[in-house]
Amino acid sequence: MNKQPIGVFDSGYGGLTILNELVNELPEYDFIYLGDNARSPYGTRSFDVVYDYTLEAVEQLFSMGCELVILACNTASAKALRSIQQKDLPKINPNKRVLGVIRPSVEEVDRLTTTKHVGILGTVGTVRSNSYPLEINKLYPDISVVQEACPMWVPLVENNEFETDGGQFFIKKNIDNLLEKDPLIDTIILGCTHYPLLKKEILNYLPERVNLVSQGEIVAKSLHNYLFRHPEMDIRCSKNGEREYLTTEFVDSFEEKASRFLNSNLQAKHISY
Ligand code: DGL
Repeated sequence: MNKQPIGVFDSGYGGLTILNELVNELPEYDFIYLGDNARSPYGTRSFDVVYDYTLEAVEQLFSMGCELVILACNTASAKALRSIQQKDLPKINPNKRVLGVIRPSVEEVDRLTTTKHVGILGTVGTVRSNSYPLEINKLYPDISVVQEACPMWVPLVENNEFETDGGQFFIKKNIDNLLEKDPLIDTIILGCTHYPLLKKEILNYLPERVNLVSQGEIVAKSLHNYLFRHPEMDIRCSKNGEREYLTTEFVDSFEEKASRFLNSNLQAKHISY
């Protein structure tokens, strides 16, 4: 069978929060998820390293038949997407596509904020890249954007420690810091794929007027729209409703942790490239 699943790449588990919504939105499509758990987290790594790792993963997914790859990782979208799109794709295969998670979220932001003051929560890498403020201000120069890096949040999720007193301390600390930077914020984008798992805890520390935005649904709707606008790509994506999960690390621990992200069990395979 000629299988051409949509590739979904993340540094580890976080992209599963995006995959979940992609599958809800586009259940008939085939998806292959690749988590580079062996080299995660990416959030603290340099531009060059994130770019190299992301390009390797994209090439791997292309070699497995994917015509379209979603970088379901904010850090990879911030640090590697543009170079891959502009520099590598024309050489590898100009008909294939790689899309990220930042642009779809940015496009929605104007619709979500009334005060035109927006906050971004992300990894150190995403915040340092300045991708969100730059992209938002390109489209909406009147929106003011402040950011807060939350380096403890990914480990808190991965180690299931976010409900503990220690976990609550770090969640509150970063939320307070962000709101202090701009008390007029009425919209916060969770600019890291792990953070939707902390939504309940984050909401405890936010005033009611603040709208907390997860990206999954936005990215899924944006992909649906993209496939509608690009029938030449849509026709190349296979549609048997199949999913495959690959990890560069231990399969057992991927399956155990992934079930928390997906709220259901799955079977993964190991991959090295
Ligand atoms: N997936 C990453 C992101 O969305 C978070 C995990 C990591 O640092 O690798 O930024």
